[in-house]
Amino acid sequence: MVIASSPAKIILFGEHFVVAGNSAISMTIDLPTTVTAEIMDGKHVQIESTELKLRGLFNPNGGLEEFNGDAAEATLRPIYEAVSFTMRHLRRPQSGLRVIVESDVPIGMGLGSSAATAVATVSAVSRLLDHPLSKEEVFEAAYSLERMVHGRPSGIDQATVTYGGLISYRNGTIEAQLTPPRHPNLIIGNTGKRRSTGDFVGKVTRLRRDEPEKYSKIATQAQNIAERARNALSIGQLDELGSLMDDNQKLLEMIGVSSPDLERLISAARSAGAQGAKLTGGGGGGCMIAMADHTAAEVCRSIEATGGRVLPSTFTPFGVQVIQAKR
Ligand code: PMV
Repeated sequence: MVIASSPAKIILFGEHFVVAGNSAISMTIDLPTTVTAEIMDGKHVQIESTELKLRGLFNPNGGLEEFNGDAAEATLRPIYEAVSFTMRHLRRPQSGLRVIVESDVPIGMGLGSSAATAVATVSAVSRLLDHPLSKEEVFEAAYSLERMVHGRPSGIDQATVTYGGLISYRNGTIEAQLTPPRHPNLIIGNTGKRRSTGDFVGKVTRLRRDEPEKYSKIATQAQNIAERARNALSIGQLDELGSLMDDNQKLLEMIGVSSPDLERLISAARSAGAQGAKLTGGGGGGCMIAMADHTAAEVCRSIEATGGRVLPSTFTPFGVQVIQAKR
């Protein structure tokens, strides 16, 4: 049996703009997704999601033969694809496996739950089959799986949760691992509104195609913000970060990926003394982040009083890891 664990992630600066080649800054947070993989008799792959109480049995042709619940196909299929991809990558025919996913990360909220599940699954299954993949291979596998689902993802979620830490990401690679002398205190507020990142990436793609000049002006400003944020973080000069977050939020509003729910929580955080606040991830709902130090308790209360849910979590430097492996 092998257990692998992946963190979740937040994007501090540059989401959406990163899809067309800008830099973005993201970091891992200590909300784990664990995947347990074990050998099972036969050639079927059984996938279980503990929190969602779903279970499905996939035959060697990829057909879902037995399952419980309407959401089984949509939820379990991407996990099966990660298992099947790993076996093909290792040039193995499908063998009997049981894969159990346990996660407290809310799905579809911009915290990288699908990337975390993919990298933990690839890591656990490859280790179980005695061919543990390198971080580079795990990232490549998870990125190709994501490309099958969404038109044109940047790969930032997969890179962040694979390698871990605070990173600056651009064009499929990590530009820099940032090791700030101190980390900003970030509060995550969840609107509770689930949405599809793909829909919002599509919206921005249409803006880029239909109004290239408008897009390019905004993207230039976003790049400038990401670079200034990277410098400020590197030297631990956090005073400027809050206003950079506010500026980034304005640009995200201009490209149409914010939402009234997000903006309610963002204003609540700012009026309770946050130094800055913005949406994080795909937008349209999902989560926002606020930076606050001595006003943190008021900011949390204000987010909750406005209908949001604060997700307690902190920075973790660790990416995906095999945490237990025994036969
Ligand atoms: O998966 P999410 O919602 O955290 O969004 C990922 C970040 C985007 O920039 C919106 C999309 C991408 O592929 O980079």
